[in-house]
Amino acid sequence: MAKITASVYTSHVPAIGAAIDLGKTSEPYWQPLFKGYEFSKHWMKDNKPDVIILVFNDHATAFSLDMIPTFAIGTADSYQPADEGWGPRPVPVVQGHAELAAHIAQSVIQQDFDLTIVNKMDVDHGLTVPLSLMCGQPEAWPCPVIPFAVNVVQYPVPSGQRCFNLGKAIRKAVDSFDKDLNVQIWGTGGMSHQLQGPRAGLINREFDNAFLDKLIADPAAAAATPHIDYVREAGSEGIELVMWLIARGAMDDVHGGEAPKLAHRFYHVPASNTAVGHVILENV
Ligand code: DHB
Ligand code: FE
Repeated sequence: MAKITASVYTSHVPAIGAAIDLGKTSEPYWQPLFKGYEFSKHWMKDNKPDVIILVFNDHATAFSLDMIPTFAIGTADSYQPADEGWGPRPVPVVQGHAELAAHIAQSVIQQDFDLTIVNKMDVDHGLTVPLSLMCGQPEAWPCPVIPFAVNVVQYPVPSGQRCFNLGKAIRKAVDSFDKDLNVQIWGTGGMSHQLQGPRAGLINREFDNAFLDKLIADPAAAAATPHIDYVREAGSEGIELVMWLIARGAMDDVHGGEAPKLAHRFYHVPASNTAVGHVILENV
């Protein structure tokens, strides 16, 4: 059977992608940030999954105000890196896993979550920057990826609690897939940042670290965080953090199993306008 073995959480700041693509990772500004992902790149090589379910948000790239799915699952065979205004990032095409994605869609929709089925989509920095941070600059990404997009851009956005429950449903879906697959689930976006208005540049280390503590040790408490707390404390774009709860809801301890092993935790300010957080949890 398919099995979720680990979850990965990371910010997705587009400037990080640009720093990698332009060969700036050892510059003094960027060096401390990339140092925090050295462990992760080794970990990724030692813990190569068969598939990654990558929870991310599209930034009005594939979707627009014309059409706003709250939750969307990519069921395509492949996804092109998007042109976000400076040309597509020079990264590999993302290969999908249509069979597992279709199974998750079937199972999760039958568990009463409304997913939009996406058979064609370009993927923006929300998806490609986490892959670059974890995998470096390979010729091809190490495994297929199922893009799972969440609307955190246009209100109304889903609550953290709903995201956590969705993660539980995804876990059940993976558990019932009749093939031996090592599956990781990644939650991306965050941490505190606000890109607009009078509070642009907002960073809240205290909130971010308290969120990481709860995410690791008491995810139900993290899931109970009301929407307004993210916006007030972590900034308008800090709401991206609800996506981390989807990944967390798929871990063993939420399903009667053991608490996960904390393999890595990292926090850094600043990257562009953003605080960067990163955690790796392993099911034991
Ligand atoms: C920035 C951060 C984001 O999460 C994003 O999606 C776009 C821009 C920034 O810090 O500039
Ligand atoms: Fe973002």
